[in-house]
Amino acid sequence: MSSSISNKALSKNTNWFWWPLFPLYPYGSRDTTYSELVPNLVWSFEQLQGLYYVAVPIRMVVLKVPKGLMLINPLPPTRDLVLALKALQEEHGPICTIVLPTASGLEHKIAMPAMARVFPESTLWVCPGQWSFPLNLPLAWLGFPSKRTRTMFADGLPHKGICKWISLGPIDIGLGRFQEIACYHSESHSLIVTDALVGIEGEPPKLFDNDPTPLLFHARDKGDQPLKDSIEARRKGWKRLVLFASYLKPDQLKIPSINDIAKNSFKPGLRTLKAHFGIFPFQWEKGWDLSAREMIGNKEPLLQVAPVIKRLVFPRAKVEFLRWLDEIKNLKGMKTIIPAHFSAPIKFTKRECINLRNRINFSDWLPSKGNWSFLYSVDKNLLDKGVVPQKPLDPFKD
Ligand SMILES: [Fe+2]
Repeated sequence: MSSSISNKALSKNTNWFWWPLFPLYPYGSRDTTYSELVPNLVWSFEQLQGLYYVAVPIRMVVLKVPKGLMLINPLPPTRDLVLALKALQEEHGPICTIVLPTASGLEHKIAMPAMARVFPESTLWVCPGQWSFPLNLPLAWLGFPSKRTRTMFADGLPHKGICKWISLGPIDIGLGRFQEIACYHSESHSLIVTDALVGIEGEPPKLFDNDPTPLLFHARDKGDQPLKDSIEARRKGWKRLVLFASYLKPDQLKIPSINDIAKNSFKPGLRTLKAHFGIFPFQWEKGWDLSAREMIGNKEPLLQVAPVIKRLVFPRAKVEFLRWLDEIKNLKGMKTIIPAHFSAPIKFTKRECINLRNRINFSDWLPSKGNWSFLYSVDKNLLDKGVVPQKPLDPFKD
């Protein structure tokens, strides 16, 4: 990391004023961690984001581009983050471009207007087909400055001399479209993706170092157990967060009866908001650990299509997903992939891309049993009600 960005600068002010717009944990206070992924070329800034202590890292990537820097998937610009970016600017030139390469990922969209105002000279690029829910509002109403906002492909592409932009989709998902545009930055041999792929490892992210409460909260087996910190508890909690984030309702997770929940709540030592007053509506059955280990890489992060995305976004779009990988596998010199969630960077050469493609091609793309049963039932429900189309590919293309 650049010597001009000190750890101190990132440990002070974590306020995110606009958190009520998208009220996710950790709400109005966002710690940021950073790392320089490729010297003088690629940086990663990460914050936590989640619901009910199920928090996973969300990442903004900064790339060196001619005459400055480009942000991809902007994060809430807390004072700490802005200080760090300004220090990077001093060394590498102004933040000239901010990119939102996803049409649907609200968690990536929400901070773009605020970040745009911090860097008023920057040009904004957005993936085509932006939409919002429950009200589909125009970008200007969401705070995007219209004079300097461009739509990718329709208005050109940012820094296309050094970046290749590869679209996955659009795919009709009923309420709107899924589309994300991967960026291959040839100088650093890095492929930056948003939600399509993630890599998960066993060690909890460093973002939990300051406050491991979410890990310790979920490491328990009952609400009356205190939150006890240890390396083992943190790892156990992390595995459960991975299962939650992946399957929403993993198979081995049962909801205890109201009586059981109440019996274990409000015990001494747990009567705090931080401990959610001992209210713990979860009960893990045997086998949960094995399920978690299937998602988590041994020594390296395990690259995969996140189950929730696979089952709710891509169930009828396997062909498009494989096509996207085919385009990616031909990128010259590709070495790593940097997704917007969980771990990064992850080794990803042509060989890994082909292996992933084969794994996907020969696997059950529409699993419905075990851990998949909840996601399957959501998809089936949406299909039965006509909310999502039977054939989502691809009504938007001419
Ligand atoms: Fe995302």
